[in-house]
Amino acid sequence: MSASDARGAFPIAYGFWRYGPDDLALAIEMIGAAREAGISHFDTADVYGGRGHFGAAEALLGEARRRAPSLLGGVEIATKVGVERGTPYNSSKEYIIRAVDASLRRLGAERVDLLYVHRPDLLAHPAEVAEALDALVAGGKAARVGVSNYAPAQIEALRGFLKTPLAAHQIELSALATAPFFDGTLDQAMAWDMSVYAWSPLGGGRLFDPADGRAARVRTALEKHAKAAGCAVGAMALAFLMRHPARPTPIIGTRSVTRLREAVAAARVRLDRGAWYEILQASLGERLP
Ligand SMILES: NC(=O)c1ccc[n+]([C@@H]2O[C@H](COP(=O)([O-])OP(=O)(O)OC[C@H]3O[C@@H](n4cnc5c(N)ncnc54)[C@H](OP(=O)(O)O)[C@@H]3O)[C@@H](O)[C@H]2O)c1
Repeated sequence: MSASDARGAFPIAYGFWRYGPDDLALAIEMIGAAREAGISHFDTADVYGGRGHFGAAEALLGEARRRAPSLLGGVEIATKVGVERGTPYNSSKEYIIRAVDASLRRLGAERVDLLYVHRPDLLAHPAEVAEALDALVAGGKAARVGVSNYAPAQIEALRGFLKTPLAAHQIELSALATAPFFDGTLDQAMAWDMSVYAWSPLGGGRLFDPADGRAARVRTALEKHAKAAGCAVGAMALAFLMRHPARPTPIIGTRSVTRLREAVAAARVRLDRGAWYEILQASLGERLP
């Protein structure tokens, strides 16, 4: 059982990558709809907010909390640090700690519920990253820590130095991004009981691109099973991810209340083995031996 199951959290999360500084009203509307639908985990990052607007998405969440405190009561907010515009990555201890202080100020929070290192910084020794994360947990500034977009070997190296357990790995995973099924990422998460969060679970919308041949193939397979299950194609694409035994939690990014409501139907769908492999094979473009 994954950590998120143990907490009894709703198995779908909502993300703020697509939000900019002028989107407060929409953010409040979407948080309300998400909560009504059962979602209780929200994902952001210090760098989200659109080009030239570092911090804007966190600031939106902080402002939403200030205007309507009950809206975000009892939810978990995850954020990420370590992407430094122009560098592009900085996971030095000094930078991570400074970045978390800035995130907390924008979010109007004393502690980050789940703090990720956003992307591996090839120039940061894992011992230094571990020291930063351990210090943040010990100092009460992060309840749990995780990483995003790490290779399994990078996680292994970091774990070797960390005192705090690594709670989560956030990865690109969708019916169009299937590498983690094969490269050890999901196996490692299961072996070490890390929650898996799947970013761009609908391929960032690419799944619906009529000009994309692979997406069309996957859609045909999804449509067949969506029809049988009585749900939307997008919901079936999420159900495909959620069926894996690592129990990935998709982080959806739609800015439409209707699509959000359609998507959460995935929580009640359970694909059988044959249907799951049919969708996988449509994505791979070949039959498995
Ligand atoms: N860790 C990382 O490096 C990383 C990277 C990227 C993202 N993320 C996280 O993942 C979250 C979700 O990413 P995402 O927004 O790319 O997820 P997504 O849910 O895969 O994609 C959302 C996009 O798909 C479109 N879409 C959804 N349903 C559709 C449909 N039925 N027909 C046509 N278009 C449809 C949405 O348009 P509408 O708004 O019009 O519905 C939106 O543009 C982000 O907010 C962020 O929190 C993390």
